[in-house]
Amino acid sequence: MTVRHFHHFALGVPDIEAQKTFYEDFGLVGRVDGNGAVLRCVGRDQDQVVLTESKERTLHHLSFGATSEGLAQVKQRAEAYPGVRLVDIPKATPYDGIWFTDADGMLYNVHVGAAAPSNGGLMPQQPGLPFRTNGPGHYTRQNQKGSIEADAQVVPHRLGHLIHFTPDLEAKLAFYRNVLGLVMSDRSEHLIAFLRPPGGSDHHVIAIIQDEKVGFHHASFEVDDIDRIGLGGQAMIRKGYRNGWGVGRHALGSNFFWYIRDPHGGLAEYFCDIDYIADDAAWEAKNWPLDVSFYVWGPEPPPEFAQNFEGVTKAVKPVPR
Ligand SMILES: [Fe+2]
Repeated sequence: MTVRHFHHFALGVPDIEAQKTFYEDFGLVGRVDGNGAVLRCVGRDQDQVVLTESKERTLHHLSFGATSEGLAQVKQRAEAYPGVRLVDIPKATPYDGIWFTDADGMLYNVHVGAAAPSNGGLMPQQPGLPFRTNGPGHYTRQNQKGSIEADAQVVPHRLGHLIHFTPDLEAKLAFYRNVLGLVMSDRSEHLIAFLRPPGGSDHHVIAIIQDEKVGFHHASFEVDDIDRIGLGGQAMIRKGYRNGWGVGRHALGSNFFWYIRDPHGGLAEYFCDIDYIADDAAWEAKNWPLDVSFYVWGPEPPPEFAQNFEGVTKAVKPVPR
């Protein structure tokens, strides 16, 4: 056992305030921290997004939690792995634990944190409104109107996963497996691979996409149900943010999704109903053809959905409708 859960991610951005406001509008709770900002999910005692000053939008680092034995194992593996270099704790993001870079120059933190399943077991979920749907043979709501509060702020419970670009999919896959101890859940040809920590996890906490350069693609936050995805996405569009893609249901991971484009070209995804892999022995990772791996239903993804916007220097502010 090496890392046990995905803890937080950090982005360097030219406009901290615009990015912080975006995540607050999305449903996270932010605070200024030095020259940067930190965001958390309501009721969760864990930083989930860290923003640091940067002239260009950059994926600053990824942070994972481990047991103390797991941390020692990762350190040993990192010291021996080609292209990996242990580095000092960054001044802008002084989290405990070990820090290292890989062959792509990406920065990682691994620290001792409670061994927790990544499906929300670490912290209690916020109480949600009861979710009842009528279906054939299953009429749970009788003689009642079924509407929910249309204007309620959608509250994501936790950061679920992050997807980033890499110039060498096979090398990055090997790094995640051999240094961090993640296991592959599925892949699709030479374009994308999905990884999770062993021992009970969402289908993926990290996924990697082949591209010309490293870059942040999206971070995904869990909400109660498909209604919260619809309401959350709708509210963000009304606030003037750009639609990333949705609503729909993915094929690999099976989650419902709606992506909203952030001011620096990244995406934030509302998700629910992701596949959970409880027994690793029963799961067989497969290599799926591209035409069946992406989504089961939803609108046609816009051409820029898979574009790598790493390096943008200006924030695009929302234009409220
Ligand atoms: Fe996602």
